[in-house]
Amino acid sequence: MLHTTKMTHTTSNKYPLHHLVTNRKSIRAFSEKSVDDDTLVSIFEAARWAPSSFNEQPWRFIITRKSDSSAFEKMLGLLDQSNRIWAQYSAVLIMPVAKTHISKTGTGNRHAFHDVGMAVGNLTLQATAAGLYLHQMGGFSIQGAIEQFDIPAGFEPVSIIAMGYRGDPALLPVHLQEKEKQPANRIPLDQLIYSNTFGEVFDGIQTKQA
Ligand SMILES: Cc1cc2nc3c(=O)[nH]c(=O)nc-3n(C[C@H](O)[C@H](O)[C@H](O)COP(=O)(O)O)c2cc1C
Repeated sequence: MLHTTKMTHTTSNKYPLHHLVTNRKSIRAFSEKSVDDDTLVSIFEAARWAPSSFNEQPWRFIITRKSDSSAFEKMLGLLDQSNRIWAQYSAVLIMPVAKTHISKTGTGNRHAFHDVGMAVGNLTLQATAAGLYLHQMGGFSIQGAIEQFDIPAGFEPVSIIAMGYRGDPALLPVHLQEKEKQPANRIPLDQLIYSNTFGEVFDGIQTKQA
């Protein structure tokens, strides 16, 4: 069993960021501490208020709590083995599901996955504010999710998210302890934002970094 430990980590940034951004990390070392229902529901309240194309709100969430072991194990069983090995310790598994068609017209919603991502972003910040950590996973059986969780036509599973409080990395298998220690790694800003046209370095960065 993993135990709750207080730990901080920082990202290295040239620009100061809000601690809700710098404190977020996709951890693998979860503690066995459960998440109370008020805290849990509050993060979905945050998701609810995300923006979406045509205010379609194409997000749905299937939540399984470790306390309901049969549902939790069913969702856990969808994960690739490399994810299951650590996600089993999380307190909650969440499956965001995208509604892929616009209600009024029945046409495909090309923004559906984007908007689910917006909702997951909101949810992530709210969870981080509550001292929780999330780890999103794309490595799971989509067909298994559809079949085992009765996902109807017009909806698609997007990911599975492990959530819980932080535990002791020393209780993870050794190869995952190493991963847990690795610092966050990102593409530099000057390769991400452009001035006026694609590929042209944004001159505001050059000024700041000089
Ligand atoms: C949609 C999505 C799918 C992901 N799938 C996996 C996964 O299957 N297994 C895993 O260990 N991490 C997965 N991740 C986590 C990323 O690897 C992680 O966010 C990235 O390495 C950056 O690390 P950080 O979130 O700690 O900053 C996924 C993240 C997202 C957003």
